[in-house]
Amino acid sequence: MSNLTAAGTFSLAGHPVHRMGYGAMQLAGPGVFGPPRDRDAAIAVLREAVASGVNHIDTSDFYGPHITNQLIREALHPYPDDLMIVTKVGAVRGEDGAWLPAMEPEDIERGVHDNLRNLGVDVLDVVNVRIMGSVHAPAEGSIERQVAALAELQYRGLVRHIGLSNVTSAQVAEAQGIAPIVCVQNHYNLIQREDDALIDELAGKGIAYVPFFPLGGFTPIQSSALSRVARIIGATPMQVALAWLLHRAPNILLIPGTSSLGHLRENMQAAQLSLPGTVRAELDAMGNVNGRQPAATR
Ligand SMILES: NC(=O)c1ccc[n+]([C@@H]2O[C@H](COP(=O)([O-])OP(=O)(O)OC[C@H]3O[C@@H](n4cnc5c(N)ncnc54)[C@H](OP(=O)(O)O)[C@@H]3O)[C@@H](O)[C@H]2O)c1
Repeated sequence: MSNLTAAGTFSLAGHPVHRMGYGAMQLAGPGVFGPPRDRDAAIAVLREAVASGVNHIDTSDFYGPHITNQLIREALHPYPDDLMIVTKVGAVRGEDGAWLPAMEPEDIERGVHDNLRNLGVDVLDVVNVRIMGSVHAPAEGSIERQVAALAELQYRGLVRHIGLSNVTSAQVAEAQGIAPIVCVQNHYNLIQREDDALIDELAGKGIAYVPFFPLGGFTPIQSSALSRVARIIGATPMQVALAWLLHRAPNILLIPGTSSLGHLRENMQAAQLSLPGTVRAELDAMGNVNGRQPAATR
């Protein structure tokens, strides 16, 4: 069994959570649409994650849609007191599985109610507003209406804490003028480093940074340099990619996604992996520079 305490904790909205968490998106069917191929396996992954010490799970009611939250409820309700379930609103799914923006105040409210119903709770721990300006990269523009809509639901007692997803530094500042922001969830990993400055800025403010696609997402990172480093230290490439993120900044909380018990166990072990300075320097050099990836990782 893995020992998540080795990677320490970080305060998420005043709750110290293990820095190794779990992202539930991969539990729905192919393309995050429809039921999982193996429902029992999905339930087993969730239960083992929590049994391993995970007390931070990321989800959304638009995963499935509804299905991932229903799996979480079936596997884990009544929820352990220390479990923080972070969900997100801002999109819905088309009949063909398309990801459609749902950013109007009434959409935000409907999204909150969908999450409450399918997770089986009266109040949501943390809700991220997922800004759909661009699909996997933030785009500048005011997010005032969306954050204000969520702040209104917080005032009504349906939401404890507010986070942001797919946002820029300017949008974080704008949101902080409306409500306290407890976490930011953007695309970031060993290769994709556009958010380096934002991570450091948020660390200075004590705000959690939660990288989505920490392993590269639907096509996990493949790199001969990463594989070589992993071989040298006796770990797997995915473990090294996760350990590098844990070393990157203290406010990084991980939510690697998997539908496989084997991968879950492998990923949890990364919490105990320490990276020697020389290895870290090699990994640091693998990131993109001004949006371009070094040749070794293309
Ligand atoms: N805010 C947003 O816009 C946003 C966007 C995307 C994701 N998210 C959140 O972020 C979480 C993490 O992102 P993600 O799940 O999309 O991507 P990820 O964690 O980067 O990678 C998941 C992919 O890697 C595979 N994988 C996992 N562990 C592995 C291992 N040890 N060895 C080999 N392959 C492995 C998974 O396949 P298997 O199932 O076969 O293991 C899956 O294909 C999601 O679960 C979701 O909660 C948020």
